[in-house]
Amino acid sequence: MASSLHQTPYGVGLAYRFNVHEEAVAHRSEIDLLELSTEDYIVRERRIYSDPDERLLHNALARFPCVAHGLSLSIGTVGELDDVYLKATDRFLREHAIEVFSEHLAFHRVDGNDLTMFLSLPFEEVAVQWVKRNYYETRRRLGRPFALENVTYAFPVPHGTLSEADFLRRICEETDCTLLLDVTNVFNNSRNHGYDPIEFFDRLPMDRVSQMHLAGGHQLPDGRWEDSHSAPVMDEVWPLFDEAVRRAENTRIVILERDSKLNPFSSVMTDIRKAREIFYTHRPAEAPEYLPVESPSRTVPAPDPMAPEFAGFRSFQRALMGRIADPSFRKEFRENAPRAVRRYELTDPEWFQKLLDCPGKHIHEFEEAWDYFRKEDKEIEKEYEQREWAAWANQLGTGGW
Ligand SMILES: [Fe+2]
Ligand SMILES: [Fe+2]
Repeated sequence: MASSLHQTPYGVGLAYRFNVHEEAVAHRSEIDLLELSTEDYIVRERRIYSDPDERLLHNALARFPCVAHGLSLSIGTVGELDDVYLKATDRFLREHAIEVFSEHLAFHRVDGNDLTMFLSLPFEEVAVQWVKRNYYETRRRLGRPFALENVTYAFPVPHGTLSEADFLRRICEETDCTLLLDVTNVFNNSRNHGYDPIEFFDRLPMDRVSQMHLAGGHQLPDGRWEDSHSAPVMDEVWPLFDEAVRRAENTRIVILERDSKLNPFSSVMTDIRKAREIFYTHRPAEAPEYLPVESPSRTVPAPDPMAPEFAGFRSFQRALMGRIADPSFRKEFRENAPRAVRRYELTDPEWFQKLLDCPGKHIHEFEEAWDYFRKEDKEIEKEYEQREWAAWANQLGTGGW
């Protein structure tokens, strides 16, 4: 069991990727902590390709304070939570004595189909109430409060009654979660969906921000901004980050996210140094005392996806995923939408209207991505099986059949 190294990490760190392990270790004095992606260790295929015997993971855990960041919770899905995911995450956190955990405020999995790209939750009260139930259930299963991250989204669910910032604020009022404020996501969303990021900060409970993310990105040819995680942090994001750190006095952790193009590592370190300079201008050099958020809720009902108050929301999500992932539903929906949605018992006219008004251009992009990923999944599975057979053959000493 690891020591208390991971109890209350503080400072500016890096989203850990095994392929820059040596580089990260070499810059230990400037990297205060690492953020581990739990999926890299709990998803079979990912582990096989990265660090199969977890040698690098153990080495990283021994050298750096670490926090964990999950990807597959889909807290906004009106359905059962993924038991396998929760158990594996719980085991991972306990096994390595990691205290700090975060996930995404989004939904991406419905009826067993995981889009692996975030969709926005409807910014309205029914989603606040659903997330509250799922948050407390997850919190119970993982034995700790955790932070929720604002995500980028291609389009907001039409006809929401709250702004994005007010939606986040309501979730903070209803739960004891903290926020992982991804400043690059704020920048991108503000540009893509036309709002002022400073006003966004004005409306957000900044005292609930415990962590921040910074990531690189760029503007696409069609004008949209994307967080590619493969480039330096954009110039426009730094002043926003400065403002966010200045305002969010309880921020303990800043993580630079870079998933690809990590070399030359000097460009990663340039961003880390800039982030450190800003962070330590507004925050003390020594970690201040950690004060947990008091939970406002005494009794929260268990999440019940079949509860009548969530029926419209649930049917909407299922039908939206059907529009993306189910070729027969796609076709039927195009021909006769009111008849098609009966499959998902979408009888509420307001939720039906929201589904109709989801922008076709974006739905089409998701459709294409879905079809592409399904093809890719099959190939990865085939390759994995081949590797497994080869390993068996090796063990039996035949050197291949
Ligand atoms: Fe994230
Ligand atoms: Fe992020």
